[in-house]
Amino acid sequence: MYLSRMSAILILSAVTTVRGRCPSGPSSVNTTSGGFEFTYPWPIQYQELLTQQQSLCQAYMDVHPDPSISPIPVGTVVLLHGKNFCGATWERTARVLLSSGYRVIIPDHIGFCKSSKPAAYQYSLQQLALNVHSILSSLNSTAPLTVIGHSLGGMLATRFTLMYLSLVSRLVLVNPIGLEDWKAKGVPYQSTDQIYLGERASNYTSIRGYEQSTYYLGTWTPAYDVWVDMLVRIYRGPEAEPYAFDQALITDAVYTQPIVYELPLLTKTKVLLLIGAKDTTAIGKAWAPPDVQRILGNYSVLGKEAASAIGTNATLVEFEDLGHAPQIQAPERFHKALMDWLA
Ligand SMILES: *[C@@H]1O[C@H](CO)[C@@H](O)[C@H](O)[C@H]1NC(C)=O
Ligand SMILES: *[C@@H]1O[C@H](CO)[C@@H](O)[C@H](O)[C@H]1NC(C)=O
Ligand SMILES: *[C@@H]1O[C@H](CO)[C@@H](O)[C@H](O)[C@H]1NC(C)=O
Ligand SMILES: *[C@@H]1O[C@H](CO)[C@@H](O)[C@H](O)[C@H]1NC(C)=O
Ligand SMILES: *[C@@H]1O[C@H](CO)[C@@H](O)[C@H](O)[C@H]1NC(C)=O
Repeated sequence: MYLSRMSAILILSAVTTVRGRCPSGPSSVNTTSGGFEFTYPWPIQYQELLTQQQSLCQAYMDVHPDPSISPIPVGTVVLLHGKNFCGATWERTARVLLSSGYRVIIPDHIGFCKSSKPAAYQYSLQQLALNVHSILSSLNSTAPLTVIGHSLGGMLATRFTLMYLSLVSRLVLVNPIGLEDWKAKGVPYQSTDQIYLGERASNYTSIRGYEQSTYYLGTWTPAYDVWVDMLVRIYRGPEAEPYAFDQALITDAVYTQPIVYELPLLTKTKVLLLIGAKDTTAIGKAWAPPDVQRILGNYSVLGKEAASAIGTNATLVEFEDLGHAPQIQAPERFHKALMDWLA
């Protein structure tokens, strides 16, 4: 009787996120931490972060290659997800890297997915980079890294590289945002309270509508639904309110911190830009006047400008017919370009 009650308590504590205390117990692929029930491809681990006067949990996956392929990893790759994504969205890319012998480390940023949803947090790319670095430190994994970032994760990967230049030997940017300064181009400021209202109203229809036009050029296949359903689980889950506010704070951090001015500082790192040229993503496009909307997010131009700002260590691969998420839209072409460059 006593024992069974104890084990019930233990089982509950393994799947419950107490804000500020990380889920304990054996790591699992299916948890509800961060108010997000979703099965991940590999066990989810947690790092307790003491940050900004609070104790938060940062979730991540750390996956080693099969020893029969590579007893010692050929390298470590950190995969940084974007705003409408989670660590789990990198599954296919991670499998390709693992099969080539790489170890992969895949965080869920604070405010996202399986990680804590703080009621308030001073978001900046620097703070998120510090958080990623703290996972790597806890794993003693500070050897030369390859960092791959998509969308917001591309901005973060750039910031991380600039903060830890000696750790990053190769940087891969997949349709990164911040390649233009939206505010300088005329996007008005919107308060986090206003953005929060839009975030709270997100549902399957609104998320799919946005992804269909921006990521997939009007096309749709059932495989894309997985990633919409994933987000709906958070937007409609038990931590929906802090999640929506965190997303609003993150949007504010992104809007105010474009990376375009700092690209020339990346000269010491080898950089691969993988750009779906039909992408039109731009922060604040939805609330910008029509004449500003028209000039934003022209990735057929932004990719070339970024490569030229970085200089001769940049390699640009453009996918003329793809949108914001080439790794999901055309995984074979995308991974071939990535692995050819890494080799
Ligand atoms: C994941 O866990 C939840 C809650 O514990 C459970 O309801 C759900 O069926 C599980 N999903 C899978 C795919 O195992
Ligand atoms: C990292 O190194 C420290 C100090 O050498 C050690 O105590 C710790 O167990 C190591 N952690 C991992 C995950 O290897
Ligand atoms: C989804 O959200 C949109 C816009 O926020 C709204 O117009 C629509 O009624 C919502 N649909 C459902 C099924 O809730
Ligand atoms: C390219 O990167 C290497 C280090 O990887 C550096 O030594 C070299 O100076 C860089 N080239 C330029 C033009 O900055
Ligand atoms: C992007 O910029 C190019 C070069 O200025 C221009 O030809 C093209 O029409 C623009 N595309 C869009 C969608 O505005």
